[in-house]
Amino acid sequence: MLLHKLVSFLLIFTSLVYSAPLTCEQLTQPAERIDPRNLEGTWALIGGSISYLPYLEIFGQRDSALIHFPSHESVTNISYSRGLRLDGKCMYSTSNITLNGSRFTFDGTPAENSSCVFVRTSCSDCLPMLFDVDSGQRTHFYLFSRRRGLEQDEKNEFMEQVRCLQMPPPVFMDPTKQLCPWPEETLN
Ligand SMILES: *[C@@H]1O[C@H](CO)[C@@H](O)[C@H](O)[C@H]1NC(C)=O
Ligand SMILES: *[C@@H]1O[C@H](CO)[C@@H](O)[C@H](O)[C@H]1NC(C)=O
Ligand SMILES: *[C@@H]1O[C@H](CO)[C@@H](O)[C@H](O)[C@H]1NC(C)=O
Ligand SMILES: *[C@@H]1O[C@H](CO)[C@@H](O)[C@H](O)[C@H]1NC(C)=O
Repeated sequence: MLLHKLVSFLLIFTSLVYSAPLTCEQLTQPAERIDPRNLEGTWALIGGSISYLPYLEIFGQRDSALIHFPSHESVTNISYSRGLRLDGKCMYSTSNITLNGSRFTFDGTPAENSSCVFVRTSCSDCLPMLFDVDSGQRTHFYLFSRRRGLEQDEKNEFMEQVRCLQMPPPVFMDPTKQLCPWPEETLN
């Protein structure tokens, strides 16, 4: 009898632990230290939110976006490129960044002006990036993944994170829209 009670207690206790929703603090904490080798390659934009609504509207007009991290020699001084598709045209840009733990700053820009932190996620091939832009005037929060279409519960986690950050509800990209080609090349 006692054993039976103990077993049911353990079962209930374990299911409570497993189903306990993460707190906002847990949902928005920085990822474990980032290994640049895990960043290498291409990631597709899944969705994002921007604290300044007019920019969020513009954000929603893009067809697709990707980011690309080349393979790096250095573990701190790295770079990444963006490929943004808007009205059937691709625009590319590259930034040199300095990685420190799960944060990075843009080289040539004071750290307090613009920085990014990789946020924890339970999705193994996702990369949530939280940008502090224009000296704290705006926050941009983007979710990237190696996959185009995520499961609903993976999107829900991102929506929860956005809610925790008190940002406007995120805009999700249409996963059927074409990505810009990488390596960069001219499209016509
Ligand atoms: C490389 O990173 C360091 C910090 O780790 C930074 O101070 C420096 O500006 C970076 N170098 C270049 C060439 O940007
Ligand atoms: C990035 O750094 C490389 C050398 O590490 C340099 O050749 C290049 O001009 C830099 N790009 C920008 C946009 O600063
Ligand atoms: C990395 O970040 C930590 C804390 O965020 C800071 O104390 C340290 O000075 C930073 N290192 C570099 C090289 O910027
Ligand atoms: C950094 O921010 C300060 C204050 O907002 C601004 O005056 C300065 O031009 C910015 N610098 C860069 C390189 O963006």
